[in-house]
Amino acid sequence: MRKKKIVEDVAIVDIADRGKSIGKTAEGKVIFVNGPVPGDIVDILLLRKRKGVFQGVIKEYKSYSEDRVAPVCDHFENCGGCKWQHLSYKKQLEYKDKQVKEALRRIAKVEIEELLPIVGGEKTEYYRNKLEFSFSNKRWLTDEEIRSDKDFGETKVLGFHAPGSFDKIVAVEHCYLQDSPSNEIRNFVRDFTIENDFEYWDARKHTGLMRNMVIRTSSLGQTMVLISFSRDEKDKISALLDAIIKRFPDITSLNYVINPKVNDTMWDLDVINYFGEKDIKEKIGDVEFIISPKSFFQTNTFQSKVLYDIAVDFADFKGDENVLDLYTGIGSIALYVAKKVKSVLGIELVPEAIADAKINAKLNGIDNAAFLVGDVKDILNDKFYKPDIIIVDPPRAGLHKDVVETMMRISPQKIVYISCNPSTQARDVALLKTKYNVIKSQAVDMFPHTHHIENVMLLTLAEG
Ligand SMILES: C[S@@+](CC[C@H](N)C(=O)[O-])C[C@H]1O[C@@H](n2cnc3c(N)ncnc32)[C@H](O)[C@@H]1O
Repeated sequence: MRKKKIVEDVAIVDIADRGKSIGKTAEGKVIFVNGPVPGDIVDILLLRKRKGVFQGVIKEYKSYSEDRVAPVCDHFENCGGCKWQHLSYKKQLEYKDKQVKEALRRIAKVEIEELLPIVGGEKTEYYRNKLEFSFSNKRWLTDEEIRSDKDFGETKVLGFHAPGSFDKIVAVEHCYLQDSPSNEIRNFVRDFTIENDFEYWDARKHTGLMRNMVIRTSSLGQTMVLISFSRDEKDKISALLDAIIKRFPDITSLNYVINPKVNDTMWDLDVINYFGEKDIKEKIGDVEFIISPKSFFQTNTFQSKVLYDIAVDFADFKGDENVLDLYTGIGSIALYVAKKVKSVLGIELVPEAIADAKINAKLNGIDNAAFLVGDVKDILNDKFYKPDIIIVDPPRAGLHKDVVETMMRISPQKIVYISCNPSTQARDVALLKTKYNVIKSQAVDMFPHTHHIENVMLLTLAEG
């Protein structure tokens, strides 16, 4: 058997774009590894080489970086959700800013007039309005538990997927990501279902009643719970949901789905409203939103306002513009800008989200906003609408090449590109720059303690 190689005294020098740390040996060999922060010195066990880069795992910490801070969460080592909790927030922001700038330099290869500094979050804990927890009969065991000879047998657990695992779930007692009553509801549901012998999901055998639970909270004090069961066991479902209402009478929306499928996705399932409203209400700035259980909504409400204000600032509306908001979700950006422009049209794939968008327009007395359901790639063309400004906020994959080409044919004066993935944004900007000048770029931290980055860019149509 080949001897495993340990590389000693590797300096951790940087963070790569998916949050892995980059180590460099004295000879200049680069190794990607999970866990340490820049400034740490570590010994690394070398694993395979992938895409020309060595991967490794930490064997020992030789010295610690002065940028380290003590993580607040007890689950930090195992959970992986907030993997930068041990790096000072100031440094987190510096590395995120650097990553955006690197992506623009390396992939977009573009000169930008104003590279503005990243805007950090005021709230670095309890900043999410939505969390999804999974039920499983396989608890993720710590190294210590694995080393002990104890048989942990079937271990019912409600929490988050262990990093890279589809079936093992890390037990969560307290999560610092979502405000009260999220922790209380999760722990109550776990205790009630264990005490009453509810079977938990087995991701390998596809058995077990309890599958997932989504909790949404809003800055207006509302709470939505959506539980996914594998089959319609009416007595058990009612017993649990009634117990939740009794213990948490302030929940404003209690729903469930029956998901007999192998995968966890809910977009194709009917949501059954068991108690309260079917939607949850949220507010960004002056605009109120109702959000139905399956609709996308920015998960950090406070920073969404910061993000949208940057987009508005970049767009610099004069009041007479026709605006297109691609990937509009429940019309969040379209409605946020509607009162500042002549008209706005939002396009979105999920029909429920567009139904919400239309209700949201009415709710806010907005009559210059229209919405279309469908894939942007299929709907967008250069015939039906001539916008002055296009705002895009696509998912991580960025824009389809056809969408970029159609946008260039439509050739609006300005494009405001909001992205949750600087690499795909830079790739798209590399195409757009043939017709557009890249004026401004500013990142916003919507997800403290994680590697996720949101970035806003302004492009203006080049003359001639
Ligand atoms: C990052 S979210 C942005 C939502 C919205 N702009 C906001 O700020 O809340 C991306 C949205 O694009 C939608 N989407 C994904 N692929 C799409 C496609 N091919 N065509 C239209 N919409 C799509 C998703 O359903 C989601 O609502």
